[in-house]
Amino acid sequence: MEDAGKYGNDKMSRKLIVAGNWKMNKTASEGKALVEALKNEAAGICSCVEIVVCPPFTTLCSVVEAAKGSRIKVGAQNVHWAENGAFTGEISAAMLKEAGVEYVIIGHSERRQYFGETDETVNSRLKAALAAGLKPIVCIGELLEEREGGRTEAVLERQVKGAFAGISAEDAAKVVLAYEPVWAIGTGKTATPEVAEATHAFIRSVVRALYGEAIAEGMTIQYGGSMKPANARELVAQKDIDGGLIGGAALKADSFAELIRQAVEGNR
Ligand code: 13P
Repeated sequence: MEDAGKYGNDKMSRKLIVAGNWKMNKTASEGKALVEALKNEAAGICSCVEIVVCPPFTTLCSVVEAAKGSRIKVGAQNVHWAENGAFTGEISAAMLKEAGVEYVIIGHSERRQYFGETDETVNSRLKAALAAGLKPIVCIGELLEEREGGRTEAVLERQVKGAFAGISAEDAAKVVLAYEPVWAIGTGKTATPEVAEATHAFIRSVVRALYGEAIAEGMTIQYGGSMKPANARELVAQKDIDGGLIGGAALKADSFAELIRQAVEGNR
């Protein structure tokens, strides 16, 4: 078994997930058009990969509608921790569920950098998402100065432990992690496959210490940060990289579809 891991489990037993994070791009009509185009492309892609698109809140409904009857899953980019109440500008898990949303991104570095997201708020949002039956994609990643200062592992360990604080093993098994080195996001600078793999393996070791072997080996850990068709295959070929969270390259159906096909090849 080519991909058999150090701990005896096969990478193929983990779910390969490629998700597009559209960030603040695509109006409702633009999103619908993108999903219509992606549906055609997706029909020819191996069913071994889960394809997710994460549009902005106001685009969710038109995208859910457009994705109906297809294999494309829809995710939101954030969720609040309270069930309802005086939280102007926020969206609850129940609202997302009723809109037909299945996944939700939590703790993206742009939320952490620009909107005051902390390990504590990530943890609260994660609990709310899990309680509502949403599938969380929890983002972690170090800043450039943290990597250069040799603090990458400490930062990631803090972020993983913070996100999972008070979360049962049963719930932890439902979480997808996305490692997104902040210095690689939107910069065109990708972590090399070797650097990404070493970091993913470290992240998995933190999950192992928290929840044991089976949950660590079963957890999908995506890479994100300037992933594109040209580098997706090599990244996903790494033992501990199980897909991607894609920004820029997910905004066009043809490049996103090609990236997904490359990821499938890499995962073999
Ligand atoms: P880019 O693919 O544009 O670098 O963005 C990555 C990202 O932040 C996905 O969440």
